Amino acid sequence: MPQWFKSKSDPEDIRIQETLKSTGGLPRHIGIIMDGNGRWAQLKGKSRIAGHVAGVDSVRDIIEAASQLGIENLTLFTFSIENWKRPRPEISALMKLLIKVLRKEAVKLLENNVRLQVIGEMEMIPDDVRQTLDETMEMTGSNRGMAMTIALSYSGKWDITQACRQIAFQVKQGSLDPETIDENLLASYLSTASMPDPDLLIRTSGESRISNFMLWQSAYSEIFFSKTLWPDFRRNELYEAIREFQKRERRFGQTSEQLKTNA
Ligand code: IPE
Ligand code: IPE
Ligand code: MG
Repeated sequence: MPQWFKSKSDPEDIRIQETLKSTGGLPRHIGIIMDGNGRWAQLKGKSRIAGHVAGVDSVRDIIEAASQLGIENLTLFTFSIENWKRPRPEISALMKLLIKVLRKEAVKLLENNVRLQVIGEMEMIPDDVRQTLDETMEMTGSNRGMAMTIALSYSGKWDITQACRQIAFQVKQGSLDPETIDENLLASYLSTASMPDPDLLIRTSGESRISNFMLWQSAYSEIFFSKTLWPDFRRNELYEAIREFQKRERRFGQTSEQLKTNA
C-alpha cells in the first residue's frame, strides 16, 4: 500500500528517474506483456490465482514509476482473446480480481493524474467488468497525465480485423473511396488510434514471443525480453529496459550514416 508513495520519499529512486529523463529519448509509449503469474505461483506451491493476485503489486509499482517518469502511454496486456480458452474458474477469478483492483485503486489513479483506457473485444467482457471499467474511465477521464491502457480481451489480429470491417462498411456505404486506403487510414481505425505506436515493448517470464499483442503497432517497437516472472517485476527492471532502449539505434530501414546526416 505505501508503495504508491515510496519513490516520493526515496531519493535514490528520484535520482534514477532524473538520470533517465536527462539522458533523453524516453519512450512515448511502453507496452508490457505481463506474463508468468502462473509459474510464479507454481514455484511457491500456490494456486495460479494467487499468482495473478501477486501480479497486482507489480502493476501498481510500474504504473506509478512510469507516470512519475512522464511516460505518456502505458499499455498493459492483461488478458488476450486466446485467454478465453483458459479454465472457467481461472477466467472468473481474473475478472473478479480486475473489478476489485479497479475499485480499490481508482483513487490512486486520480492521485497520479492517470487516465484509464481500455482496448479489446468488449462484447466478450462480462457486464459487471464492463460497468466497472466504464465507471473508472469516467472518473479518470479528465486526467491529463499518463494514459494507462488495459488491453483486455485484446488480440492484434482482432484489432486489424475490426479495423478492416469498419473500412469495408464505409466503402459499401459509399463514404470511402478504396483508392484512399493507406497505412495511416488503416491505423486510424485500430483501437490504438489515439496513441503513438509503442516505442518499447517489454515481455516478462522468459518467453520470446509477441502472443498476438499489437501486431501492426509493434512493427518498429524495440523489444525487451525479461526472464523475470511478472509478480517479481518492479520499477528497477523497467528502468533497466528504458536504459537499454536509450542505447538502441532506431533506424526504421535507413542506414546508420543516413541517421547521423539527418540528425
Ligand atoms: C499472465 O500470466 C497473465 C495472463 C495471461 C492472464 P500467466 O497466467 O500466463 O502465467 P504463466 O505463463 O502460466 O506462468
Ligand atoms: C500473453 O500471455 C497474454 C497476456 C499477458 C495477457 P499468455 O500466457 O497468454 O501467452 P502464451 O500463451 O504463453 O503465448
Ligand atoms: Mg503465460
